[in-house]
Amino acid sequence: MNVLDHLRALFADALRPLTERPEDYALHVRPAQDPKFGDYQANCAMPLRKELGGNPREIAQKIIDNLPDQSIFESIEIAGPGFINLCLTSDALVGELGTLLGSDSLLPATSGPAPTMVIDYSSPNVAKPMHVGHLRSTIIGDALARIHRALGWNVISDNHLGDWGTQFGMLIHGWRHYRDDAKAKENPLAELARLYRHVNELGENDPVVARAARDETVKLHEGDEENLALWKEFMPWCLEDLHRIYDRLDIRFDHELGESFYQPMLAETAKSLEEKQMATPSDGALCVFFPDPSGKTDDDDNVIQRFAPMIVRKADGAFTYATTDLASIRYRVEEFQPDVIVYVVDDRQSLHFQQLFEVAEKWGYTDVQFEHVAFGKITGKDGKPYKTRQGGTVGLEMLLDEGITRAKASVDEISPDLSEEERQQVAEVVGIGAIKYADLSQNRISDYIFDWDKMISLNGNTATYLQYVYARNRSIFRRGEIDPATFFATLPEIVLDHPSERALALILLQFPESLQQAAGDFKPNMLTTYLFDLANAYNGFFRDCPVLKAPSESLRASRLALCELTARTIRTGLDLLGIKTVERM
Ligand code: ARG
Repeated sequence: MNVLDHLRALFADALRPLTERPEDYALHVRPAQDPKFGDYQANCAMPLRKELGGNPREIAQKIIDNLPDQSIFESIEIAGPGFINLCLTSDALVGELGTLLGSDSLLPATSGPAPTMVIDYSSPNVAKPMHVGHLRSTIIGDALARIHRALGWNVISDNHLGDWGTQFGMLIHGWRHYRDDAKAKENPLAELARLYRHVNELGENDPVVARAARDETVKLHEGDEENLALWKEFMPWCLEDLHRIYDRLDIRFDHELGESFYQPMLAETAKSLEEKQMATPSDGALCVFFPDPSGKTDDDDNVIQRFAPMIVRKADGAFTYATTDLASIRYRVEEFQPDVIVYVVDDRQSLHFQQLFEVAEKWGYTDVQFEHVAFGKITGKDGKPYKTRQGGTVGLEMLLDEGITRAKASVDEISPDLSEEERQQVAEVVGIGAIKYADLSQNRISDYIFDWDKMISLNGNTATYLQYVYARNRSIFRRGEIDPATFFATLPEIVLDHPSERALALILLQFPESLQQAAGDFKPNMLTTYLFDLANAYNGFFRDCPVLKAPSESLRASRLALCELTARTIRTGLDLLGIKTVERM
């Protein structure tokens, strides 16, 4: 159990004689915002007054009197209107740190059956090169999958590829009419990308081309053999291209069940919605309508529709994105029995997901929790969508290359002692890490400004800073010729006499809390903020407390233990964000 959970359990016991909802009020126990208020604060008395009446300071005193075990507290003080400030004893901290140092995991063992989560992320439309717009879902989704796994969830990741869309009609049309055989032979994917751009451009000015491309899509969807054969020929090229990028980003999926996978299930999905009278025919199409919940009507007594309807089948017979998502819900529930299905998709699709979840629930999926983890867009410094200087979309492959090139320049400067080859390896880790971290450290809801200089900076809340702190930490062990594996085989006595040692100890113990917060709100930035605070506390400790030159052997061992725990925590934390560390830089 982590410290916070332990404190909350203690307070729940203390609150039990006072209220019916002790666990709820115990949630008001939180880490103190400022060390002058102690280590943790229990702010349960003020909200409890609403239920009990009376003076919150007196309520606070009653809670304290009820605490079953006070041995872990150095001090318990009532402050202001009724805050309870808690300071833990060094013994309590030392005990926890010792347990941590002696175990191979930084995370508390989980109890009870693991809940199952299906997480749908990245999910690009294939056959078009991946661009900067695909970055956020891919990176945030991967971090959330890793964090939940670390907390004991059974996580099933699924890349819901857009592999059945209108882009294939364009490719088929292009392939038939504008293919360059030599190029197609040499690099089929590059040729597809060229044809896609070409047909797209032609179609913008020429309705005949646009129509022809659309017709090819319709034929494909109707099962036309030649078009299907071309689709089957194109798909492996498209997937190979995607996987090259995923490999560079160190991202893997358990499943890649794209839209095409669900095609055979769509007619049945529509039929079921119609039978349950959830979908109704309208102008040849089949739609689900969303009446205003208040039942309001317009002048002609029509029930006001709250949203545009969800189209399940278009008038031309084609099924839609929404139908596919409904079919995928049915499939996922039957196949994986998830407790939660999470969609990491940008906020422009909020309405789609709102409708989707509403329909899914009515359709009978009431035991599953649905979550749309939405995020804003990536902008340039001008606040407009991030574009190349020429105004085009920024290709993902090029973006990764540029990150590594920029990181290399900076690594050349910080690490002149490393060989050229080592510096190149470090630059890969730093460049990719910087791109991921810059995204993850934002509150995902907001748009975020893409800024190379900030993201690779050694100063500030960046992956580069954390990677550097980690490598410096490892160098202490190298200089002292200490192998952590053998050194900590016998656990040293940890001493927390200096305030900087104590501050570091406290934050080291809060790692699981930060993961729970990040997971609970689907916000990886809770973890980045934690890691940044940890690195700063560690720097304070390192500034104030000599390690290799500590005044005694025992203090040296104790401080090395704090270094080791810091290193493990940074390495694990970054790993859960999908970011690597290097031993030297
Ligand atoms: N392919 C879609 C797009 O690029 C995103 C899919 C998200 N996942 C889902 N199940 N709808 O907009």
